[in-house]
Amino acid sequence: MAKKKKKLKHVYPVLVGLMGAGKSSIGRRLAHKLKLPLVDLDEVIVARAGCTIPQIFEQRGEDGFRELESQLLRECLGQPSVLATGGGIVMREQNRQLLKEHPPVIWLKASPEFLAARIDGDSNRPLIAAGDTLNKLQTLAEIRYPLYEACADHVLPRGDMKKKEALRDILGFLKQWKRSRKQGV
Ligand code: S3P
Repeated sequence: MAKKKKKLKHVYPVLVGLMGAGKSSIGRRLAHKLKLPLVDLDEVIVARAGCTIPQIFEQRGEDGFRELESQLLRECLGQPSVLATGGGIVMREQNRQLLKEHPPVIWLKASPEFLAARIDGDSNRPLIAAGDTLNKLQTLAEIRYPLYEACADHVLPRGDMKKKEALRDILGFLKQWKRSRKQGV
């Protein structure tokens, strides 16, 4: 493990993808491997606001939430960590620009069907709290897939892939990415 950390020194991956794709859980494993802290942007937002995500949406609306999200993204990017972002991070142009300036960005790509099975009925996610989860995720996927794609340096296809395999895939990509950066490719 010590070897891996040395090889991937100064590599601070950012995970993006729709809600339920496993950004936090895979992020936690990745952070452990890289011996970095995991920063979960939703948790940072909740700590800064002093209330839950549904409460932020209720009190400030989605726009208020996005404002806070952009501000804290700016603060967290570039820090020595693995950064797990919220699913809507790519909705603002300024965030997409910031993400592109802080590679490597890894998109955990999963189908709405896969995600709906994982997060249906989650009351902590205001965008799906009213039900009809699959339909909502399909709409979000249509809007956001091209945006994730535009920001991502690597796409990890979720689905049948076990977390262990996902981690192996990401570590393989990171090594290759770091090598190509060194060579100025
Ligand atoms: C959101 C995803 C959530 C959270 C908020 C909005 C979105 O994060 O930031 O509920 O717009 O997709 P997760 O992707 O971690 O669930």
